[in-house]
Amino acid sequence: MAESVAPELVVAPDLDQLSRAAAERAAAIVSRTVADRGHCTLALSGGTTPRTLYALLAGEYRLAAPWRQAEWFWGDERCVPPDHAESNYRAARDALLVPLRIPSGMVHRIDCSGGAPAGATRYEAVLRDRLPAGRFDLVLLGVGADGHTASLFPGSGALDERERWAVAVTGGPELAVRERVTLTYPVLDRARAVFLLAAGAGKHPVVARMLAGDRTDPAARVRPDGALVWFLDEAARTGRTAAA
Ligand code: 6PG
Repeated sequence: MAESVAPELVVAPDLDQLSRAAAERAAAIVSRTVADRGHCTLALSGGTTPRTLYALLAGEYRLAAPWRQAEWFWGDERCVPPDHAESNYRAARDALLVPLRIPSGMVHRIDCSGGAPAGATRYEAVLRDRLPAGRFDLVLLGVGADGHTASLFPGSGALDERERWAVAVTGGPELAVRERVTLTYPVLDRARAVFLLAAGAGKHPVVARMLAGDRTDPAARVRPDGALVWFLDEAARTGRTAAA
C-alpha cells in the first residue's frame, strides 16, 4: 500500500453538485490525457451513487471530453449476466456507454461466466493486455456504509492481495449478489487519479473515520500514486440531511 498525500476533499451541497464537480474533473482528465497520449483508461464504479455522474457525462458533458477515445473498465462486478438488474456493466452501459456511443472494442466488461474465479482470471488477462503497467488514468470508486470499496469488503482476504490485479470474492449474506470480481489495491494504488464518491448521511461514519485519519476501512486504504479525490456531499460529511 503506497504512502501518498492525504485525500483532496471536494464537498458539495448535494449529490447533484457532487456529481457535477466529479464530471468537471473527469472531463478535464480525459481531455488532457487523450491530448497528451492519444488514449485514456477509466475504471467505473457500480452502485447507485455514480448514476447521477454517469447521466451528466452522457448529457451535459457529452462534448466535454473525447470519451470515445477512452477505454472503459470496471472496478468490480457482480457475477450476474450482463443484462441482469444487479450488473454494474448494465448500469454503465445504459446510462453512459450507449448514449456516448462508445465503440464496443473500447469497453471491457468483467465476464464472470464460469464463476468468479474464472472471471477474475479472464479480467486480469485483459488488464495485463490493455494496461501493461497496470495503471489506470482514472478510477471511480464508491464506498459502502460498511467501509468497502469496489468489492473489497472488511475482513476479506482480497485486502491482502499484493500480486494479482483482480480477484474473486464472496461478499456477505446481506448482499443481493455475493459472488464478485474486484480490482485489488496493487492496481488501485497505481492509478494516476482515483475519485471516491460518497453521498448521504449513511456514509458519514466511514467518511468521519477517514477524515480523522483512520485507515481501517477498505475505502480509506486506497492510496494511489496519483491524485486521490474524495467527493462528498454535506450529508456524508456532517451526518445531517438537508431537512434536519
Ligand atoms: C458495487 C460497487 C460498490 C459501491 C458501494 C456503494 O458493485 O456495489 O462497486 O463498491 O460503490 O457499495 O454503493 P452505493 O453508491 O449504492 O451506496
